[in-house]
Amino acid sequence: MCGIVGYIGRRNSLSILMEGLKRLEYRGYDSAGVAVINDSKDINFFKKAGKVKEIEEHFDPDALSGTTGIGHTRWATHGAPNDTNAHPHFDMGKNIAIVHNGIIENYKSLKRKLESAGFSFSTETDTEVLANLIEFHFRNTNDFEKAVRIALTDVEGTYGIAILNKKEPDKIIIARMGSPLMLGLGKDETIISSDAAAIINHTKNVIYLEDGEMAVIKRDSFQIKTISDEDIFREVQKIEFDLTEIEKSGFEHFMLKEICEQPDSIQNTYRGRINFETGVVKLGGLENVSDKLFNAKRIIITGCGTAWHAGLVGEYMLEHYCRIPAEVEYASEFRYRNPIINRDDVVILISQSGETADTRAAMKEAQRLGATTIGIVNVVGSTIAREVDAGTYIHAGPEIGVASTKAFTSQLMSLALITLMIANNKGTLSEKQLIEIASEVKVLPEKMKHIIDKRNDYKFIAEEFKDAKNFLYLGRGFNFPVALEGALKLKEISYIHAEGYPAAEMKHGPIALIDENMPVVFIAPKDSTYDKIISNIEEIKARKGKIITIANEDDMEISNYSDYVLRVPASVPLFAPILNSIPLQFLSYYIAAARNCNVDQPRNLAKSVTVE
Ligand code: M6R
Repeated sequence: MCGIVGYIGRRNSLSILMEGLKRLEYRGYDSAGVAVINDSKDINFFKKAGKVKEIEEHFDPDALSGTTGIGHTRWATHGAPNDTNAHPHFDMGKNIAIVHNGIIENYKSLKRKLESAGFSFSTETDTEVLANLIEFHFRNTNDFEKAVRIALTDVEGTYGIAILNKKEPDKIIIARMGSPLMLGLGKDETIISSDAAAIINHTKNVIYLEDGEMAVIKRDSFQIKTISDEDIFREVQKIEFDLTEIEKSGFEHFMLKEICEQPDSIQNTYRGRINFETGVVKLGGLENVSDKLFNAKRIIITGCGTAWHAGLVGEYMLEHYCRIPAEVEYASEFRYRNPIINRDDVVILISQSGETADTRAAMKEAQRLGATTIGIVNVVGSTIAREVDAGTYIHAGPEIGVASTKAFTSQLMSLALITLMIANNKGTLSEKQLIEIASEVKVLPEKMKHIIDKRNDYKFIAEEFKDAKNFLYLGRGFNFPVALEGALKLKEISYIHAEGYPAAEMKHGPIALIDENMPVVFIAPKDSTYDKIISNIEEIKARKGKIITIANEDDMEISNYSDYVLRVPASVPLFAPILNSIPLQFLSYYIAAARNCNVDQPRNLAKSVTVE
């Protein structure tokens, strides 16, 4: 969603704010801005529609000097993405400056009350209402902290906010309800951010703010309280990754870097968790719920977008290998359809960011109904990771490209590890089978590397199809969700319309779309569905569709049916989706690059969707 950064200390804040905004830009990138308190205790600001880099070219740094400041990079919710609606926002007298991630749901009624008290507004945003509300209470109390506290009790909705007040210039107040915020603690300075990316260059010591909390931050001290004024003590935690992990390291795009990192990220997911001699998996984070997991009558998996696709593969894994009924739900639908959830059910929440609003809400609903919740999360310390009953981090490292790649394959690996753990406990896999599967885990990074080393082959196919208007992705069984994921990757970064289907469903409708202009991507490993998928390919070929096939390296027969073949090493059904996803990631990447699309920051999207 939006990215928030703030600085208070002894250094000039502007360069720290701008560097932070660049690192947070993947969270939202339609406009950006900063506000800084100068030595004369005035608030100076600059804000504009566009990317952070473009904005930087338009302001005079000398006019924005000062040791206390806040900044914001926006993904529009209320009001068009233009200069006026960019953050920071101000009260009408420009005493208060605020940056905000979230949605104030009752802003219209608050606005009416403020208007009748004589306040006027110059933007369409909910955030400007909050700035004026704080000013309104400041006028009554002459106490910044109290004014924020009272204003927040009037507010319904979600927020991560950072606020300046020129009448109390030596502090920043931040507060959180539903949108992440953390404090990075340096020597005589504090950096505030929505995530660790803007902090890591300055300090590894962080404190995560929880929902319903606020902090008053001064140059050399800070105090965390609940919004209802109770003191809070919170442990300092360490950021676990390095700066190099959030830089492009010579790659043209983060997405390309992240696709190529997968042999390492997958190892980080399973390292220390599987015994290759016995095939036994141990996930420390799930120990406290292992009884619930092993005795679950049903496992429900939920998430959004790519995480939902991973969940769909998880359903196949759990039912096939553990014989446990499993269901997959869109997190965005879960709580609205009055789900039947029992105390014996386990609900697995999958989220790269750990902050997706719909997935968080699904978690709360599952907990309300008494189910055991398990998180499969990437971002350490994120809300879902902290609030589930138990969890396993995927350890894929920071994922900056908006299109999820390495997180997806690591989510699949985490689901596979959970599957093996349950199958071992239930005896649905023999010791011999477990050992065989474990030996496949060991060679997986090498097989992934092999695919990645051949990435230049994809450029030619991308050139061939970069002007296609539509794509169809078809797969069966474990590879049906891979088809969905391949289609999502293509549409989100190249803006080409793409659909994924179970291959056999094609003849129940989508086949009407096939003509000589329709590229159809088949995922066709040599598994139990192979012969069926060949029939589906023939049905497309008979209607002149262009066939691109993901097939195993030793499958020579497939060339007879395909216009293009992208080859991957064979694997067991549990891991084939991991390997088969990589060519689809490359295909979408190179098509988007050939179309000159902004691969890492596709239009209208943001890395994590922290509003409903
Ligand atoms: O952070 P999350 O995994 O909860 O995010 C879920 C989706 O928003 C995310 O996977 C989205 O679909 C990606 N843009 C896909 O590439």
